[in-house]
Amino acid sequence: MNQSITEKVLSANSICFLTGAGVSAESGIPTFRDAKTGYWEQFNPQELATQEAFTKDPQLVWNWYQWRRQLVADAKPNSAHKVITKIQQQLPNVNVITQNVDGLHQASGSREVIEFHGNIRNNKCNICKYAEVNMDNLTEDIPECPHCKTLLRPAVVWFGEAIPARASAHSIKAVKECDVFFSVGTSSQVHPAAGLAQLARINKAMIIEINPNATPLSSSADYAIAEPAGSALEDLAADLFK
Ligand code: OAD
Repeated sequence: MNQSITEKVLSANSICFLTGAGVSAESGIPTFRDAKTGYWEQFNPQELATQEAFTKDPQLVWNWYQWRRQLVADAKPNSAHKVITKIQQQLPNVNVITQNVDGLHQASGSREVIEFHGNIRNNKCNICKYAEVNMDNLTEDIPECPHCKTLLRPAVVWFGEAIPARASAHSIKAVKECDVFFSVGTSSQVHPAAGLAQLARINKAMIIEINPNATPLSSSADYAIAEPAGSALEDLAADLFK
């Protein structure tokens, strides 16, 4: 790993990781834009992950989420999650913001993970905000809200919906404070998450991207490391914790 990255990370007062689907790719969870497997062959996530799609065909959307929940239930954190956890444990003020809904950062031991797009393990009611954990029900039966009797939906952020206020506020605070901003495994195409790197830049943070493929962020990042997250972060950890 480049020596100036290592030095900057070790001397930082605060570090932010923004992660996306690529960080879980090595755990066997397909990304949104690269994957051509299963439901991804037949359906465009941008057309399924909406309230309109759920209203029109709840069973189709529910089945897609149940398939993804099964993938998540079987998945284990990979070395990218583990290195981020280790950095958070060893260095001060390390914040993890994730667009992923799979809970793998938490499973790896990361603390106070900011879930920008919610968590697929949970359901919620659109009307009364009732929420429950769903991982015991991986069937095609869509549960009803015990209060409103309407269909429950996955507790994730769908296209066109606002980011949860707490997650948004915590992210902005963490990004404004950080000296080093890592963008790991995200296409940097989905806003407002993609805007966090710009906010970090305005606040003079070093921007480090880890992604085997170029993204809209790559050319403006201080370092664009074109490698899978697992090996790139393992290299970083080897230098940081000699
Ligand atoms: P995408 O699927 O758009 O992008 C995944 C990125 O991960 C791509 O840029 C890949 O090049 C990269 N990638 C693939 N394998 C990798 C690896 N092993 N290591 C590192 N990077 C790798 O996923 P996101 O950018 O996370 O939103 O997508 C953002 C949001 O769009 C998602 O949270 C979801 C989606 O629609 C909602 O559901 C609201």
